[in-house]
Amino acid sequence: MSFLHSKRPEAHEVFTPGRVPLAKNNIYVPRPAAEGALLRCVQRHWVPVVFGEFGVGKTTLVLRYFQDVKEDGRLVFISSAEALTMARVFEVCLDHLNYSVEVESSSAQSVDANAGVNFGFVKAEAGGTLTDERRRRLVISSPTDTAVISVLSEAKLVLVIDEMHRATDSFRTELVNFIKATRAGAEGFNLVLIGTSLDAKLLVASDEGINRYIQETRVSVMTADEARTIVDQGFEKLKLRIADELADRLVRASVGAPTIVQELCLDSAESALEESRDEVLESDISKAVSRYLDQHEARMSSRYYSAIETQGQKRYRKRILHAMATLESDYATMEDIRDAVSVALGESVPSTALSGPLRDLKEEDYGRILQGVDRVISGEVIQNLSTFTDPMMKSFVRFMGNLDTTGLGTPGAR
Ligand SMILES: Nc1ncnc2c1ncn2[C@@H]1O[C@H](COP(=O)(O)OP(=O)(O)OP(=O)(O)O)[C@@H](O)[C@H]1O
Ligand SMILES: [Mg+2]
Repeated sequence: MSFLHSKRPEAHEVFTPGRVPLAKNNIYVPRPAAEGALLRCVQRHWVPVVFGEFGVGKTTLVLRYFQDVKEDGRLVFISSAEALTMARVFEVCLDHLNYSVEVESSSAQSVDANAGVNFGFVKAEAGGTLTDERRRRLVISSPTDTAVISVLSEAKLVLVIDEMHRATDSFRTELVNFIKATRAGAEGFNLVLIGTSLDAKLLVASDEGINRYIQETRVSVMTADEARTIVDQGFEKLKLRIADELADRLVRASVGAPTIVQELCLDSAESALEESRDEVLESDISKAVSRYLDQHEARMSSRYYSAIETQGQKRYRKRILHAMATLESDYATMEDIRDAVSVALGESVPSTALSGPLRDLKEEDYGRILQGVDRVISGEVIQNLSTFTDPMMKSFVRFMGNLDTTGLGTPGAR
């Protein structure tokens, strides 16, 4: 082979199921709507709460957006809000800025009137790389401490906190106070939260005054064109051909979930390459589809099958699941479900016909595939919302619902 031919990368260097596509050969499809919303927030100095269904590309969007900031050494990414405290957040940020940091044990906690929670002390000493005027000793005793806020803004840090739905209430309270303090004069510093649509509401619920600083930013499921771009660009990098019609079916099977597109593409590319072919065939994709099903079988297929009914005319449990899987929001009210089921059935279905089956879907006997969540939103309205217990189930249900139409698998035979 001539040196003029560029080397073919490995399939796993191109497709990245389960990883964020940040490397050169990875495929990233721009998400203009969400990227535009992020830009607006950053410019206006607001806090975006990036939300969207499981695996839809929230973390990817944010990390791609701030790639330059990261190269500049100004990005602090906290991958989960689980067990997080503001003291820990400061510790991570200051550590990033080369301070040596010490968090004092809870025995020495202060109770800050503004913060309203026990905070503890964070002590930090500037490290060697900072200029003299920024060398300072910090003793931070509250989430609204001005000294630490000015250090963060001088450094023009971008702080990203992912998985906000795992945050405790006390962390949320601290965060709200911190956000209010940073908005009052911390140019340069930016905070980005990633979570579910409820997280923004929970933050607002704990303090109405925060409303104007927080901006919900949705990442929607991928359009067919976006998913098709992953298929086309990825296979092109791998010098693999695919028939137009087949690429379309692959896209349809992926039901707008980038995770699934990436996984099916990787498996079918490897299957073609193993046989030294330069064309991806239907058999490669069917194999990828059945591998996807096998891989998730223990966790999801069995739950899915125990939830749906295979007989009966109405099959409301199955209808409800499929209706919920197509809703944009991850949290559905009875009215949302009723409307979506009515559209799917082409007739108006009363809520009373659905409430029994909906309750069943939350029971152990039917795999507890759904759960109810009660939320106090804006301080007063209590809504009984339904959501998938396992967040991955939503795209899986769509996947199962679509499989018959793609001709790439035979779930009924399983
Ligand atoms: N814009 C994109 N272009 C190409 N692939 C993408 C894009 N966004 C996401 N992906 C693929 O989808 C997968 C899931 O993305 P990501 O982890 O960012 O989603 P998420 O919404 O943060 O998921 P979770 O709900 O699990 O936190 C990634 O591994 C990546 O391969
Ligand atoms: Mg994520």
